[in-house]
Amino acid sequence: MKKRLMNTIVGVIVGAGVLVTMASAHSESTGNAEADYRIQKMKEIGMNMGAIGKVAKGEAPYSEALNENAKAIAELASNMGKWFPEGSGVEASRSKPDIWDPANKDKFAQDIVNLQEASLGLVVAVQSGDQAKIGAALKATGGTCGACHKQFRKPKQ
Ligand code: HEC
Repeated sequence: MKKRLMNTIVGVIVGAGVLVTMASAHSESTGNAEADYRIQKMKEIGMNMGAIGKVAKGEAPYSEALNENAKAIAELASNMGKWFPEGSGVEASRSKPDIWDPANKDKFAQDIVNLQEASLGLVVAVQSGDQAKIGAALKATGGTCGACHKQFRKPKQ
């Protein structure tokens, strides 16, 4: 019962964090709603990765709530293909025009698939509660983020 209450509290805190992130994304609008939505979702992925990262590094204890973080990443990843509609690569966003170059279509789609697969591995690793496994799966997942960012994300403006 206590544990469940803790999970609820953590859930509320995480939820509040998402709202704060959404609010800050709104205040730094790119002027394009689809780009703003994408940035907000990327931040959500980043926050969930960060929560698991703290445990992998031993900076925070393992908790059942971590499963929600892992599932959130997999869920977000499963939708990522919809976050890049044509015309949303506005100047103020950090998405490179290369994303919408037909020559890169397959590569970009593959980068998303790589994240999706890795994130499913992360869900399994987090379920195991084994810190080393969580660390390895997090690294693999983070690698797929980095691969796409390297090729398709502009440097910070
Ligand atoms: C298929 C490509 C791709 C994958 C995979 C990907 N990203 Fe991104 N990410 C981008 C692009 C492109 C941007 C720039 C978005 C924009 O400004 O339009 C971005 C932006 C971001 C941002 C910056 C948001 C801001 O504050 O402006 C964060 C944080 C982020 N990604 C985290 C992640 C994490 C964590 C993962 C992996 C779990 C990940 N991304 C996977 C392409 C990707």
